[in-house]
Amino acid sequence: MLVLGIETSCDETAVALYDSVKGLLADRLFSQVELHAEYGGVVPELAARDHIRKLAPLIEDLLGSAGMTLSDLDGVAYTVGPGLSGALLVGASLGRALAWGLGIPAIGVHHMEGHLLAPMLEQDRPDYPFLALLVSGGHTLLADVAGVGRYSILGESLDDAVGEAFDKAAKLLGLGYPGGPAIARAAESGRPGRFTFPRPMTDRPGLDFSYSGLKTFTLTTAHEQVLDDQTVADIALAFQDAAVDSLVIKCRRALDETGHRALVVAGGVGANRSLRSKLAALAEQEDVRVYFPRPEFCTDNGAMIAQIGCLRLQGGEADSLAVGVRPRWRLSELERPGA
Ligand code: KG4
Ligand code: ZN
Repeated sequence: MLVLGIETSCDETAVALYDSVKGLLADRLFSQVELHAEYGGVVPELAARDHIRKLAPLIEDLLGSAGMTLSDLDGVAYTVGPGLSGALLVGASLGRALAWGLGIPAIGVHHMEGHLLAPMLEQDRPDYPFLALLVSGGHTLLADVAGVGRYSILGESLDDAVGEAFDKAAKLLGLGYPGGPAIARAAESGRPGRFTFPRPMTDRPGLDFSYSGLKTFTLTTAHEQVLDDQTVADIALAFQDAAVDSLVIKCRRALDETGHRALVVAGGVGANRSLRSKLAALAEQEDVRVYFPRPEFCTDNGAMIAQIGCLRLQGGEADSLAVGVRPRWRLSELERPGA
């Protein structure tokens, strides 16, 4: 079964071809980062309009690169939520309409399920069950993954997502957008020890997270200082250390509680090098294995959507002709394919 995957939930227009036997065949992405940079964050209306401009040419380019045409497709998958409603609607309407025109099934995919199983796109992948840390601009959660569609949430952020905190802290420090990579870059020349930020939610039991306090701490610290380049770097490092440490501490707890031997890291913040090296150290101490998707599959991409679409279409699921999106959609509402 050959499935076209479409991702337009936020500011990346992304598409991919996934074959049920051969796996990922091709993928293409157009990032809107430059479009939104001058506004310091994603402008939903601009995002939707740009998806309209870029999506169809990107699909043509994708098919051409794989030496295929639309008639080779057996199914279409598109992100249906969570995300920005206007942006989601572009992918959902084009995906649904394409499938209808070709007489093939279509399916709406949960964006976070895509991220959660992105490590399964790699050759070296974990066996079920595993622990998953999902860290993006919209979510921060730890899930027990027993199989496809069998997720239980062990803990999540009570307020801001960790990626959102990176973005907001970067804005406060004048580092621009997107904030995660900007903070990480600035932190490279930061001096350890000049500032120490609290590790939120680590002094109490449980696996939930909180990041709004860290944002306030960054704001207060920034207001007390003259923000020269070195000070910005020092604050960026203190922020990153606190944000990353709180994730690592909760991962250690969750591994102890579940007894799982594999930890999967997914979502945009999974591209953070400090997080990667601290989790690698944790894995060595705890004798577990940690799996990261390649960096381009940590952030939003079409491959993860095509993969889930293929799994679920093969399980016999398909959407009706109605086009709808679910800007808010909890991962725990998902069921197993074919259930
Ligand atoms: O998964 P993603 O591409 O989009 C969704 O939110 O679904 O994640 C984007 C988030 C942004 O908040 C971005 O600042 C953050 O991931 N991010 C990073 C890094 N690269 C991206 N955060 C920390 N360090 C990075 N290197
Ligand atoms: Zn995402």
